Amino acid sequence: MKFFIDTANLEQIYRAHSLGILDGVTTNPSLMAKEGIKGKDNIFQHYKAICNIVDGPVSAEVFATKYDGMIAEGEELYQIEPEKITIKLPCTEDGIRAIKYFSEKGYRTNCTLVFTVGQALLAAKAGATYCSPFIGRLDDIGSDGIALLEEIVGMYNYYGFDTQVLAASIRHTRHILRCIEVGTDVATCPLDVIEKLLVHPLTTSGVEIFTKDANSIK
Ligand code: E4P
Repeated sequence: MKFFIDTANLEQIYRAHSLGILDGVTTNPSLMAKEGIKGKDNIFQHYKAICNIVDGPVSAEVFATKYDGMIAEGEELYQIEPEKITIKLPCTEDGIRAIKYFSEKGYRTNCTLVFTVGQALLAAKAGATYCSPFIGRLDDIGSDGIALLEEIVGMYNYYGFDTQVLAASIRHTRHILRCIEVGTDVATCPLDVIEKLLVHPLTTSGVEIFTKDANSIK
């Protein structure tokens, strides 16, 4: 399973990259706003800075909600770094049409805000590189995000779609473990959730004991 980091924070991206386990980055307008990045020039520069850190796809979300705007914006975003930028588009009628347009041009796309298997089917048929079901937001409203993920993975495998399932809106390590169980292609996670995978009391106490014994025989 590939690991993407779900942030626009350069320091966090750098820390995840330094771990040597980072396969890509996802951002969205809320994550960019959280970093205080404002205005087209600054936003484009920020994407460039992210691309300079990470060896992998960087999802950049369009702000436009209508097809023509999505196409114009997506074209510009892609040119920031054609080897890495993945155009992120919402699973709406205009978004699906734009995904079809970009997939026919050979551009990478990420279909975001996916909450049903039907939406995931449309994303794949339009040729999306990634389909992003929002696990945490479904759990937040009392639905079952992982169950949706499992259905989409099953449906893509059954029909042989190339679209990769990118589990998004991940809140905790249990989500990551369930992503592994259902065979998700990619999980995009906040840094603290990735780091929590490292934590186990027996690892901590084991390191302490081995360090003490190592010091006694140096
Ligand atoms: C990533 O692609 C999504 O935009 C992100 O995971 C959404 O997460 P949230 O539900 O925590 O905002």
